[in-house]
Amino acid sequence: MATKEDNYKYLSGFGSEFVSEDPRCPGALPEGQNSPQKCPYGLYAEQLSGSAFTAPRAENRRTWLYRIRPSVGHGPYTKFPKGFLTHDWDEQEPDPNQMRWRPFDLPKTPDVDFVEGLHTICGAGDPKMKSGLAIHIYSCSISMENRAFYNADGDLLIVPQVGPLDIKTEFGLMKVHPNQICVIQQGMRFSVAVNEASRGYILEVFGQHFQLPDLGPIGANGLANPRDFLTPTAYYEDMQNTSYQIVSKYQGGMFACNQDHSPFDVVAWHGNYVPYKYDLSKFQVINSVSFDHCDPSIFTVLTCQSEKKGTAIADFVIFPPRWSVQEHTFRPPYYHRNCMSEFMGLIHGAYEAKKDGFAPGGATLHSIMTPHGPDAKCFDFGSSEVLKPARVADNTQAFMFESCLGLAVTKWGLKTCQKLEEDYYKCWGDLKSHFTGMKL
Ligand code: FE2
Repeated sequence: MATKEDNYKYLSGFGSEFVSEDPRCPGALPEGQNSPQKCPYGLYAEQLSGSAFTAPRAENRRTWLYRIRPSVGHGPYTKFPKGFLTHDWDEQEPDPNQMRWRPFDLPKTPDVDFVEGLHTICGAGDPKMKSGLAIHIYSCSISMENRAFYNADGDLLIVPQVGPLDIKTEFGLMKVHPNQICVIQQGMRFSVAVNEASRGYILEVFGQHFQLPDLGPIGANGLANPRDFLTPTAYYEDMQNTSYQIVSKYQGGMFACNQDHSPFDVVAWHGNYVPYKYDLSKFQVINSVSFDHCDPSIFTVLTCQSEKKGTAIADFVIFPPRWSVQEHTFRPPYYHRNCMSEFMGLIHGAYEAKKDGFAPGGATLHSIMTPHGPDAKCFDFGSSEVLKPARVADNTQAFMFESCLGLAVTKWGLKTCQKLEEDYYKCWGDLKSHFTGMKL
């Protein structure tokens, strides 16, 4: 069931220490301490830790939740069907080919919820080692009813492509439309309601959290500004003597347990470990205003850094509507071979380097050192266009998940989904020699 619009209230900021209490229970937050002998309104105090207790202060993440019942009041975990969710990266032989997928299917049956509709397309690493990532497609048609999900393996960056998501979290309510994203971090319980067949992309990172990229000489403002990240405000439901299922992804497996009350019973909370959403139209685009290209890292919204300096386990990068003004420059994306893996998706519109073939709801993967770049049509246009200031990507939002890891494609991605184009490589087949030098 969709939630009433006026129930969505947000706090603004990124990495901030927030304080929130449901207005139905003023004074629910204990004053002056985290865990008093008796909490206001008879609530339980529970801490959710998102970093090691001893992590440096700038990276330390935790939130105190004041709830009707503590999370521990549940039955034993048992196995829950995994469907097409996997972290087995050896299902298929490595394949360095450029890959492009036609739009992934919306559910073929009318009774698939968000948890049941998760499909892993590629990834690398191991949640047990807290290292790596997975990329999933979700495709669902019904709301999660009396079912909550949490991911013990890492953070989920969710990119809706069709249909808004009504997300109930322990921290409050979020509504996330296409062209917005949300991040639900490790361990946070949430439930997704939809009012139509819905589809989107998920970037899961194991063991690290997303952060805003450093801005260096750009200065204090620009790209994604902290004030535009929105965190829900406390909102509780008091459902006792009911049947609620908690589904957990743990070490790549799916498990479920039952309890007799809603997990969305947090009346007040404070802390800096929170879910958040972001509207991609708020991104301040920065680019060259003289000649040549900035690398696509200039479009980074969020990054999840590896231990190697300046190298991302995963960057979330967008290609928003903007002006293109470079002089004496081939303006489309450059031809490229990369030591990183590039997975792209399209929320809406037509991506500038490939106006044909790359459709909203589809995807591409250009793997480590596999060449890619504009097709012949785009090359011809970019080589001959009159270089006046021009709009690029109006009504379009392409994005990239870029990773320093070599991504393995799953059996679902290569075969079962039946969306992989056999002849994607042919889009570069018309690139002819224009060499004007002397022939030997
Ligand atoms: Fe590239």
